Amino acid sequence: MTQRYSKITGWGKYVPSRVLTNADLEKMVDTSDEWIVARTGIRERHVVGPGETNTTMSVAASRQALDVAGLMPKDVDLIIVATSSPDHFLPSVASEVQYQLGAECPAFTLTAGCTGFVYALATAHQFIATGAYNRVLVIGSEVISMFINWEDRNTCVLFGDGAGAVVMEASSQPTGVQSFVLGSDGSGGKYLKVRGGGCAYPISHEMIEDKAMYIEMNGRKVFKFATRVMGEATLQALDKAGLTLDDIDLLIPHQANLRIIQLAARHLGLPMEKVFVNLDRYGNTSAASIPIALVEALEQGRIREGMNICMVGFGGGLTWAATVVRWGQPAEPVEWPLVWRFAPTSHKVSMAAAKVRLHARQLADIASYRASSLLLPLYTFAGLRKPKNKND
Ligand code: ACO
Repeated sequence: MTQRYSKITGWGKYVPSRVLTNADLEKMVDTSDEWIVARTGIRERHVVGPGETNTTMSVAASRQALDVAGLMPKDVDLIIVATSSPDHFLPSVASEVQYQLGAECPAFTLTAGCTGFVYALATAHQFIATGAYNRVLVIGSEVISMFINWEDRNTCVLFGDGAGAVVMEASSQPTGVQSFVLGSDGSGGKYLKVRGGGCAYPISHEMIEDKAMYIEMNGRKVFKFATRVMGEATLQALDKAGLTLDDIDLLIPHQANLRIIQLAARHLGLPMEKVFVNLDRYGNTSAASIPIALVEALEQGRIREGMNICMVGFGGGLTWAATVVRWGQPAEPVEWPLVWRFAPTSHKVSMAAAKVRLHARQLADIASYRASSLLLPLYTFAGLRKPKNKND
């Protein structure tokens, strides 16, 4: 069988019209616009209003994506929805979306926290690469606001609702998904959790009084994990695609926190001009964040034919994933045999150097953080002893 590639041919997004600004949150919890912007980069987020659900948002984003691809719902062979905030345990959001769209195909929901969309993209790619299906609709959609304790300032400032969708179609050209890396470390599941509502801690008066139906998070642990895995997963996906950092035209990271994104970019040595950020207007929309960012990047003309895009995410689980996508038609390779013979070796050397640089920068950051924590008591002591003026 000739090799089959999966190309993104359609895209769409939907965000609720209701906007919750940092000023609104100041009235709800003990926080401030300054704190939220400085610690996260988020200025506002969208939250669902009456009549808006995970399904309605998914359907709206999907209709746009199908329009761009020039397809009808009946043309779709499979629907995958990535979400951690489904409308119901049963039926699956994906089946509801399939019905509301008027599609006639299998559909399933996939959960991998904020990483879900990249997992879904990789899954869709497999179905296409094996020849099982030709057209797959991949959606990332979240109504995270329903799982937020609006009295918990540690979490309520971070999240927002929304949906993004792409159509993936089979292609004989070496375009679309070039590689992917998926990861999970369940030992960190406790750091980002909804304790109640499932089989382990079923719904009861006690569970509700315990507020166990809301997201609980150890922000510092997730922060550390995220800054580590984002760079590593990006390099692994590039390596698998036979590319180096220089080949990347745009990095689309999960939009959780600007500081996490900046640190990951710095560790990689990637300039921020090559990194797409829109979290200031949406907050963390979990599995919807990467597809919403992808669609905005396209709308802003940041993605053009022939570019290499890397999408990288992390999230509850804990999970992580990255994928390299070549946009549009590939450029014809130049026939220059001598160069091609040396290309694999030069790629290996370049990737090995990139890994060493990544780990060195990560270690340097950890060391400087530890040093500043150790010196904190000295600063405090010196500050207490410091005379108010020369004559004191
Ligand atoms: N307003 C004001 N103060 C706050 C707020 C707030 N909204 N939230 C926390 N604080 C306080 C804390 O109580 C703490 O006070 P203390 O020192 O008196 O205890 C202080 O600010 C500092 O808290 P830290 O946790 O050290 O703050 P940090 O700089 O780590 O930022 C944050 C917190 C923004 C949560 C950060 O840790 C983070 O972004 N972590 C990653 C979270 C994330 O990405 N989660 C999503 C994962 S994806 C998924 O699957 C859903």
